[in-house]
Amino acid sequence: MPNAKAYSAASATSPLAPSSIVRRDPTEDDVQIEILYCGICHSDLHQVRNEWKDVFATVYPCVPGHEIVGRVTKVGAKVTKFKVGDLAAVGCMVDSDGTCPNCLEGLEQFCPNFTLTYNAPDKHLGGVTYGGYSESIVVREKFVLKVPENLDLAGVAPLLCAGITTYSPMRHWGVTKGKKIGVVGLGGLGHMAVKFAHALGAHVVVFTTSPGKKDDALRLGADEVVISKNADEMQKHLFSFDFILDAVSAEHDINAYLQMLKRDGHLVLVGAPEKPIPVAAFNLIFGRKSLSGSPIGGLKETQEMLDFCGQKGITADIELIPIQKVNEAYERLLKSDVKYRFVIDMATLKAQG
Ligand SMILES: NC(=O)c1ccc[n+]([C@@H]2O[C@H](COP(=O)([O-])OP(=O)(O)OC[C@H]3O[C@@H](n4cnc5c(N)ncnc54)[C@H](OP(=O)(O)O)[C@@H]3O)[C@@H](O)[C@H]2O)c1
Ligand SMILES: [Zn+2]
Ligand SMILES: [Zn+2]
Repeated sequence: MPNAKAYSAASATSPLAPSSIVRRDPTEDDVQIEILYCGICHSDLHQVRNEWKDVFATVYPCVPGHEIVGRVTKVGAKVTKFKVGDLAAVGCMVDSDGTCPNCLEGLEQFCPNFTLTYNAPDKHLGGVTYGGYSESIVVREKFVLKVPENLDLAGVAPLLCAGITTYSPMRHWGVTKGKKIGVVGLGGLGHMAVKFAHALGAHVVVFTTSPGKKDDALRLGADEVVISKNADEMQKHLFSFDFILDAVSAEHDINAYLQMLKRDGHLVLVGAPEKPIPVAAFNLIFGRKSLSGSPIGGLKETQEMLDFCGQKGITADIELIPIQKVNEAYERLLKSDVKYRFVIDMATLKAQG
């Protein structure tokens, strides 16, 4: 029997609409969470509209959402890290095999048998997993994270995807003081990348297609802002970057950014546009440059990132919306019009008749 309110999409062309879903009773190592806030990631939009059909075909109905924070309402008998009333967070994964070499290294994001928070086979109930656009969720304790008590809870939600997805590659490729770092696209991921690169002491340059975001980029921690449509401004930065993080959600030319890398520099894609991206071979060959990608992050590093945010007072800049405005928010995301992450106030779902 359905026991939780949610918002779901019935097909790739349907808007998100109120629905009811089944959440399992907590097993002995599960944590049941009342969801207070859930961020809206551009991946939610890609998945709801089945834009990644070649890799992750969407199963409908689809309940997206993987930037979840809330309060624990029930715990299984073997749960030790959480008790009823604690704050808790859930990101992009809710399970993995725990035995493969990736899991053994704490890199569950590479587990061939991981379970994503939504649109993945549900081992407990059959069908697919349902994400955070819902009033509650039940998750294995190991995949539930601790939330620093000093941070604004709604602003914490986006850390669970936008935060870890940008923090992890910066740690992996060594973003530190003395490095020149580029961030392409000032959206949900991009604005977190700017905050982290600044907090890690790097010199940060934002590339944006939106001239109106310039002042915000500087306020968020950028040292310089380049309007990427302006060829003269782009020219000034040729061959100068150690590392560039590309967080763009749509088709764009990455060759311009490869050309900006120094010798042995790295361009890392976190953005995942629907269509393949052309690369000119000589943009990699001259300068021995690397083009890489990076997915979310493992549990250990996600907790490290949350603790880092607690210490530095970092949260996302958000627009808090009622769930009834979720379809409007998707349309604004497509226009790069978000400052800088939409977060759903789940009280508005509870209050809905
Ligand atoms: N690798 C992972 O594990 C992972 C995790 C989460 C999300 N993602 C992916 O990362 C991407 C970004 O997600 P998000 O939630 O940050 O999205 P978002 O908030 O919509 O931000 C995307 C930004 O990209 C820029 N942009 C959009 N269309 C563009 C175009 N045609 N040309 C150039 N720039 C454009 C815009 O920035 P400006 O206005 O500054 O130009 C926009 O704000 C999505 O594809 C998402 O699926 C990947
Ligand atoms: Zn996401
Ligand atoms: Zn594994």
